[in-house]
Amino acid sequence: MNDKVSTARRKAALETPTSLGAEATRDISGALNALAADFFALYLKTKNFHWHVSGPHFRDYHLLLDEQADQLYATTDPIAERVRKLGGTTLHSSGHIARPQRVSDNDADYVTPLDMLAELKEDNARLADRMRETHGVCDEHGDVATASLLEVWIDEAERRTWFLFEASRRGEAPGR
Ligand SMILES: [Fe+2]
Repeated sequence: MNDKVSTARRKAALETPTSLGAEATRDISGALNALAADFFALYLKTKNFHWHVSGPHFRDYHLLLDEQADQLYATTDPIAERVRKLGGTTLHSSGHIARPQRVSDNDADYVTPLDMLAELKEDNARLADRMRETHGVCDEHGDVATASLLEVWIDEAERRTWFLFEASRRGEAPGR
């Protein structure tokens, strides 16, 4: 048996049965894997800021970012498992995450607390946009189950965006 045939046989073993069709598997899995990579990347960035935030609002920000990181991390597994239910394969490694990831890393030594909140607010808003796009892909293929999960995750991303927005308004004059 040549290498190509044996690889094809091993891959066939991972083709979970689904009635949605090969195109749906390809399109939705591709979109979900990119989202899974974004969730891992944003999870780690949120933890990064949780670990490195400093200043007078340390406790508030430190705890807020921990809550948000937990929520992001909790979403990675259902996304990856959804891909497997659709007959696709998902992320294999941290190197694999880096390829489709659209969330930019922030390796700066020091970031001000307000810059941290602003950056995460943007990242979560963009994440919600990309989930809405993925919802459209699901609609095209009639994948109501993935669409329904996305609706919850979009709401959660919007909640994180809201909290980051409000938390970053500290110091603004009332009535503005
Ligand atoms: Fe912690």
